[in-house]
Amino acid sequence: MKTAICPGSFDPVTYGHIDIIKRAAKIFDKVIVGVLVNVEKKPWFTIEERTDLLKKTVGDIPNVEIEGFDGLLVDFAAERNADVIVKGLRAVSDFEYEFQMALTNSKLNNNIETVFLTTSAENMYLSSSIVKQVGLLGGDIAPFVPECVRDEILQRIGKLNQ
Ligand code: PNS
Repeated sequence: MKTAICPGSFDPVTYGHIDIIKRAAKIFDKVIVGVLVNVEKKPWFTIEERTDLLKKTVGDIPNVEIEGFDGLLVDFAAERNADVIVKGLRAVSDFEYEFQMALTNSKLNNNIETVFLTTSAENMYLSSSIVKQVGLLGGDIAPFVPECVRDEILQRIGKLNQ
């Protein structure tokens, strides 16, 4: 039985994340989506809110679990007996940062491998930050996120504009 962790900030989840999670769920017996803290980002949503949105969007996939964690990714992976960390790679620009994280994580715990899935062509440009930016500037974000996520973003923007 192989367990994979799909880690990320998911602030909030986009169709790009959903694609990677669904594909990982076809490859591994169990996929644990880990909502983690990226100290380099200032999130819009709390870990609990991000976890709830993931539960609404991918929570119905039988071998997928969703959980928040505020420590190191390798500690989360070890606690959950995961074999593999799965990350999506969009473009060359992702590579250096992801490579650095993968090497650091393997130094911290060399029992856990990092595996990269190439993103689907239609999601190459997609990121949570871009979606939030488009929403903030009044653009249509429906092509990028499920309806429940769009509603949360729009509600948050309403709050931000108050
Ligand atoms: O979606 P993101 O922001 O690219 O995901 C990055 C994330 C959250 C996976 C990364 O920042 C992370 O692993 N955070 C947990 C803390 C940790 O282990 N940091 C060291 C990573 S080398």
